[in-house]
Amino acid sequence: MADPTGAGRPRVFVARRIPEEGLDLVRASCEMDLWDGPLPPPRDELLRRVVGVDGALTLLTDRVDDEFLDAAGPQLRVVSNYAVGFDNIEVAACARRGVRVGNTPGVLTETTADLAWTLLMAAARRVPEGSRFVLDGKWKTWDPLLLLGPDVHGATIGILGFGRIGQAVARRAQGFGMEILYHDLEPLPASVSQPFGATYLPLEELLPRSDFVTLHVNLSPVTRRLINAETLAMMKPTAVLVNTSRGPVVDQVALATALREGVIWAAALDVTDPEPIPMDDPLVALDNCLIVPHIASASRATRGKMAEMAAANLVAGVRGEPLPTEVPPPA
Ligand code: DGY
Repeated sequence: MADPTGAGRPRVFVARRIPEEGLDLVRASCEMDLWDGPLPPPRDELLRRVVGVDGALTLLTDRVDDEFLDAAGPQLRVVSNYAVGFDNIEVAACARRGVRVGNTPGVLTETTADLAWTLLMAAARRVPEGSRFVLDGKWKTWDPLLLLGPDVHGATIGILGFGRIGQAVARRAQGFGMEILYHDLEPLPASVSQPFGATYLPLEELLPRSDFVTLHVNLSPVTRRLINAETLAMMKPTAVLVNTSRGPVVDQVALATALREGVIWAAALDVTDPEPIPMDDPLVALDNCLIVPHIASASRATRGKMAEMAAANLVAGVRGEPLPTEVPPPA
């Protein structure tokens, strides 16, 4: 029988309330300290709460760096991130101390692609503007020139980052009869790209040809500010930019200028830099910029599966077992 004092059980800190299916798994084998606030734990609170824990379940809002690892102490065995992205974690610093890092790949691929598609469609067909128009009492008649936008079907889509999520977006684009172009660090084997009829192009050739440009890259030194004044200028003046990857992939000052000056036609963002986007950011006031609050993986089922995966990584880590989905330490 479990010792009711919790003695002998691994101690873990969970940095936010996640779906119960994950918390149940953690509770079953660990002494759990849960931060139950609606906002992330303030930094000093986070550093205080991880002291002496064997494992931590973190979110993309929690920075895991040397300061965090020093605060936790040498018994820390695992940091399990409740996300597929792990740019909030200094994986090399963790590796140096033998701390394993887990993430939640795979389960959110289709849900994220669904939202990328939602944003693409909504921006093209001006859904938020149409809704505001009705709510503002401006709908007086059927108007042949009202809220016109580009067709999605039959258009050309440029997918930057042709990993799991990029490919799931390509599958949706096939259903819309689109020409599919992609760019990645290098061309992928034909066995990957051919089923989608997707063509690899260098960025400077993909951008001028794409009606829709959608971002599915990891945040890295290579992709930070990949979309900037120079690359925006390569796009069509009718182009729609969709970002469900990470905010810093886009230079937002350059994007605001491009949207205002008609360098591109519209943008739809699930992610911004910083998050939340300040209400006085120029992008917020633009009718041709649709912004939602980082909800790409936010279906009930997917968030539940992410919780189970993050919990499984945490529990395996504190037991010293291989993590079901481990972020490989840098070579
Ligand atoms: C991730 O998992 O990296 C998303 O940004 C949040 O689900």
